Amino acid sequence: MSRTDAIGAAYLVCAILFIIGLRRLSSPATARSGNRLAAVGMAIAIAATLFDERVLSFGWIVVGAIAGGVAGAVGARKVKMTAMPQMVALFNGVGGGAAALVALADYHDTVGLPGHVEVRIIASILFSAVVGAVSFSGSMIAFGKLQEVISGAPTVVPGQRFVTGALAAVVAVLCVILGTGHESQALLAVTMAIALVLGIQMVMAIGGADMPVVISLLNAFTGLATASTGFVLSNNVLIISGTLVGASGTLLTQMMGRAMNRTITNVVFGAFGTGGGAAAAVGAGAVDGQVRATTAEDVAVMLAYARRVVIVPGYGLAVAQAQHNVRELADQLERRGVDVRYAIHPVAGRMPGHMNVLLAEADVPYPQLFEMDDINPEFPRTDVSLVIGANDVVNPAAQNTPGSPIYGMPILKVHESAAIVVLKRSMNTGFAGIENELFYDPKTSMLFGDAKASVASLTTAVKAV
Ligand code: TAP
Repeated sequence: MSRTDAIGAAYLVCAILFIIGLRRLSSPATARSGNRLAAVGMAIAIAATLFDERVLSFGWIVVGAIAGGVAGAVGARKVKMTAMPQMVALFNGVGGGAAALVALADYHDTVGLPGHVEVRIIASILFSAVVGAVSFSGSMIAFGKLQEVISGAPTVVPGQRFVTGALAAVVAVLCVILGTGHESQALLAVTMAIALVLGIQMVMAIGGADMPVVISLLNAFTGLATASTGFVLSNNVLIISGTLVGASGTLLTQMMGRAMNRTITNVVFGAFGTGGGAAAAVGAGAVDGQVRATTAEDVAVMLAYARRVVIVPGYGLAVAQAQHNVRELADQLERRGVDVRYAIHPVAGRMPGHMNVLLAEADVPYPQLFEMDDINPEFPRTDVSLVIGANDVVNPAAQNTPGSPIYGMPILKVHESAAIVVLKRSMNTGFAGIENELFYDPKTSMLFGDAKASVASLTTAVKAV
């Protein structure tokens, strides 16, 4: 077997491991092993690539691998669960930037060679360079916003859509010039610089609730740019892994867009910013009515004598790190014969699967976790919905208030249950920055306080009932 064949065979194994790994990530029960399989695949891919005879010296590769490996390992250990979206944005941006830089290096190697450069190659180089650059700068802005280094509110320039369209058009024209025989490294650098500005301009204009859709979209961009780099380098594993990331990122974008009532066209063509953050708060208006504060003892009586309790976790649960206390409360209720279920909204928290990860950490049994579409018909038969640190995902304005920034977003219909108890610290708004009429519903009582302390006192009180 030649060296090339051996590398090709290793890449095939990697591709299989990536696909099985991705498949296993679709359920919390198999996700850990899926992640491990994909990591093994990546290790094999790196090792096989190092055997490629086009690798002439290892010095810089070792330096890069050590720097990247240390940063990745420290990041994975130190970064808190709540900061994971920023980390994803950062990693994603680095991937896009790498694809763009490889494209630039390839262009440098390719131009000036005797003979005609294939259109296929030049098109792949241009695609990686432009899409990688947009993904890099866009992801860095997303990171800055999530880390609150820059304001999370939408920063919209006058004529936002026109400016975005104009920048995209200029990039497209320059690509056509470069792709039709006009060889110029300087022009490619200018094109990439404009693509960087396009990425910044697009993401700066995004506010609040649209952010996760955009991160997922940028993730898809990075995947596609990487796949394109694979065509340039004739590297099958890059093509396959890039396509997997591109396809799964695109699907995730669509699913999240649907869950947050944002269409992809809306995102791509720059109708950004109207969906969240400060802009959303302005259009939200105030809600009339009275808020009823309650005590842990009163709630404990309701819970202890209920037949069915649905727990609705949200971002506040993650902030309070109350997952273990919630599990304890649920155990206590189940011992009394209460049917306890968890309702999982697809965009509860700050990243896809955030609630699943938290509850899995506390060993909550998977069969008790219900997706939105499965649990919604159950709310009319629910005695108490216990909303823990969730806000936007249970806001009936999504159904009742045309003009609300979240109007049309699917929600968990907790308002249809017999009683609702909301655990949060104050009357502050959630991520979308809008009032929640659920809190003023006569069936709702508010248990104010940090979710961890509130849930712990509920457990103590239930034991005493
Ligand atoms: P949010 O609407 O953000 O509400 C979270 C609530 O938790 C806040 O109202 C806050 O109220 C409360 N809270 C915070 N810390 C708390 C603590 N220590 N103890 C008790 N309560 C606490 O959360 P959600 O309902 O999960 O909705 C998620 C939102 O984030 C949606 O708008 C979604 O579009 C957006 N988003 C989602 C994602 C993904 S992919 N999941 C990513 C980015 C954004 P107090 O301050 O009064 O306590």
